[in-house]
Amino acid sequence: MTTTKSSSPGEFSPTRFKATQRANWDAMSGGWLTWQEKFERGATPVSERLIAAAGIRPGQRVLDIGTGVGEPALGVAELVGADGAVTAVDLSEEMVRIVRRRAGELPESAGGLEALQGDVETLELPENSFDAALSRWGLMFAVDHVAAFGAIARALRPGGVLAASVWGEPQDAPMVSTGFRVLAERLDLPKPPAGEPSPYSMADNTKTEAELRAAGFAEVEITDFVAPFWLADPGEYVEFYRTCSPPGLLTMIEQKFGSQDDPGTWDAIAASVEPFREADGVIRLPSRTRVLRAVVPG
Ligand SMILES: C[S@@+](CC[C@H](N)C(=O)[O-])C[C@H]1O[C@@H](n2cnc3c(N)ncnc32)[C@H](O)[C@@H]1O
Repeated sequence: MTTTKSSSPGEFSPTRFKATQRANWDAMSGGWLTWQEKFERGATPVSERLIAAAGIRPGQRVLDIGTGVGEPALGVAELVGADGAVTAVDLSEEMVRIVRRRAGELPESAGGLEALQGDVETLELPENSFDAALSRWGLMFAVDHVAAFGAIARALRPGGVLAASVWGEPQDAPMVSTGFRVLAERLDLPKPPAGEPSPYSMADNTKTEAELRAAGFAEVEITDFVAPFWLADPGEYVEFYRTCSPPGLLTMIEQKFGSQDDPGTWDAIAASVEPFREADGVIRLPSRTRVLRAVVPG
């Protein structure tokens, strides 16, 4: 989507939003890499669900959109094997750099993994060239959903399948929403401008289904899946929020409370997950996600 209209500070500007997104994900890339293993406790079952929904098998060509530090792309490269191939796309150059390095560590039996910097709304990939497209929590940040789904549909061959996870309602996804609720209260965060994408931009199934169909997809199915995130203790949740939050939020903590280490903030985030502690001491944050499945008519 292109827009040349200039916007005032409180108004949503797609151009400014994309630039901020790119800078934020660049800055968070190292944190996401550090946290990757613990995040996969809840996220790998989602990848497995997407892989099953798309019917991915050896020899296929697969696209992964918003790959972050490389999932599900890296796992899928092993699954499709040497006769298959994976293209992983991310808006953030730093994420792409990490994925390229990690791709070099794949076993020889894996399919080739090419990582490209790009925006899902303006993908410049050869048409009809993928058997399946996956995205694990990457599509909700698109400004124009139909443009994003349309670009993916064009890259898929007829009969090609899109399988993607996107967040539903914030209260159903405590892994991502609990800490943010604390930060929003403590920092008195203003309501984002109307139209600004968020992790929950694809929570409305009726709207998302209409957008998928408007982009040319058929056989649309939207189901729910619970990602079984867990933490050994509240300190792990604090670590997650410190390493995987946009730098602007940390700056706001410093400005309001004098230091990014402000104990009041981090203690409140730790306390926010205590209600999820179970009898064995483990903090379980099962988080319900939507799973979109749609097919390009063959
Ligand atoms: C929540 S992370 C998910 C990363 C990974 N798929 C995972 O599940 O661990 C979202 C990713 O989407 C990327 N992203 C955001 N907007 C995008 C866009 N318009 N096009 C492509 N990637 C985008 C971000 O840079 C970020 O790496």
